[in-house]
Amino acid sequence: MAALRTLWMGLVLLGVLGVLQTRAEAQVSLQPNFQQDKFLGRWFTAGLASNASWIREKKAPLPMCTSLVAPTEDGGLNLTITFLRKDQCETRTLLLQPVGPPGCYSYTSQHWGSVNDVRVVETDYVEYALLHTESTKGPGQDFHIATLYSRTQTPREEVKEKFAAFAKAQGFTEDTIVFLPQTDKCMEGHQ
Ligand SMILES: *[C@@H]1O[C@H](CO)[C@@H](O)[C@H](O)[C@H]1NC(C)=O
Ligand SMILES: *[C@@H]1O[C@H](CO)[C@@H](O)[C@H](O)[C@H]1NC(C)=O
Repeated sequence: MAALRTLWMGLVLLGVLGVLQTRAEAQVSLQPNFQQDKFLGRWFTAGLASNASWIREKKAPLPMCTSLVAPTEDGGLNLTITFLRKDQCETRTLLLQPVGPPGCYSYTSQHWGSVNDVRVVETDYVEYALLHTESTKGPGQDFHIATLYSRTQTPREEVKEKFAAFAKAQGFTEDTIVFLPQTDKCMEGHQ
């Protein structure tokens, strides 16, 4: 009887996990064998696609910003993002905690109090990375964002096309995909 019960429990749990897994896979994939150490260093945010109203409503395109990616003690990532805002260089730190398989992270936005999942969907580490961010908790913060990270400020056309195809596969329409203009502001002092 006890054995049967255990079996039944096992099947139920497996069933539940199976459902969760299929859902996650249907949403976004993950870079196979993600190697976090190769992902570290400086990236430029070269492209964005988002259905977050606070991004869509921006009239002028955001200029490119840089992200300096460093490891944290808990096995996660420390993202130092530098961007231009009202003619000033501003810096924000995002602490991404590892969740689930390598390449999956979670962070809590200090500004919104929302919890966001970040996945490295695809990267070759030396040229580009495709990221997907999704809010999972927090009232009225229901959005998702696709980001193109590039090691240079001038991503190749093939890389841009790859990003556009990726964003469309995530359900973003053409008009929500933007390539951020190059800038020489706020690019100094970070290696
Ligand atoms: C994250 O990086 C910034 C900039 O290098 C640093 O000031 C901060 O202490 C780091 N935070 C953690 C928790 O590692
Ligand atoms: C953004 O897209 C996600 C996923 O399709 C959806 O759940 C969410 O409601 C959308 N948010 C907005 C603000 O349109």
